[in-house]
Amino acid sequence: MKNRTIAEVMQVYKTYQTGDTLITALHSTSLQFKTGELTLILGPSGSGKTTLLSLLGCVIYPTGGDVFIDGQQANLLSANELSVLRLGKIGFVFQGFNLIAPLNALENVMIPLQLRNNKAAGNKQKAEAALELVGMKDRMKNLPKMLSGGQQQRVAIARALVTDPPIILCDEPTAALDPKSVGVVMEELKTLAINGKSVIVVTHDMRLKQYADRIIYVDNGLAAEVEHLSLLPH
Ligand SMILES: Nc1ncnc2c1ncn2[C@@H]1O[C@H](COP(=O)(O)OP(=O)(O)OP(=O)(O)O)[C@@H](O)[C@H]1O
Ligand SMILES: [Mg+2]
Repeated sequence: MKNRTIAEVMQVYKTYQTGDTLITALHSTSLQFKTGELTLILGPSGSGKTTLLSLLGCVIYPTGGDVFIDGQQANLLSANELSVLRLGKIGFVFQGFNLIAPLNALENVMIPLQLRNNKAAGNKQKAEAALELVGMKDRMKNLPKMLSGGQQQRVAIARALVTDPPIILCDEPTAALDPKSVGVVMEELKTLAINGKSVIVVTHDMRLKQYADRIIYVDNGLAAEVEHLSLLPH
């Protein structure tokens, strides 16, 4: 289902105490994310992009404020409850692909399914279907080292979507890719959004803005919706 609020942060903020200094990684932020849209989170290094994505991904707890994932108030859940929530609702894609070297593409994609239910019939078929969706089924027996960067990232996308989570979070998914692979990977992510996922992509690459339905710009811990592309800094 499209256009449904699937993730929301309300007056959420994050501070870190390191020695004598208190760093505000993210100032109070309120944002909603819907299914069927691709959101870019842009901003310079150290501005708080990964912090915002980690809060949405329930990887860290906010210092204050609330995080809602598909109606559940994540900041009130225990670490164990959060891992169940993450597994069901969120797929992660990272810059470095994070594929496990001795496992082939199919085995890598099966990992989230095995975390949920190791013995379930149909795990292999689901993993094959996810690889097919990103055009990598014919390479499913290949180890990561036999694949190009762009192909590895497509396998990582298949792994993120194999459990059919409504939210896909990506941190710099194109940073290690050549320009052609950037296009292929972004088209894959765009297709997922068109088909109803909420796809949220952190990047400092302004060229990705052509794929965005929405842009959030983060600067010095302040996150704000960009109402018009012409307002973006160059
Ligand atoms: N675990 C931590 N402990 C202390 N400070 C942290 C921690 N994580 C992040 N920070 C600080 O919070 C600020 C925002 O960091 P964040 O990783 O969110 O930036 P970013 O926008 O993702 O940067 P980059 O583009 O370089 O990845 C930075 O000043 C960073 O040093
Ligand atoms: Mg970052």
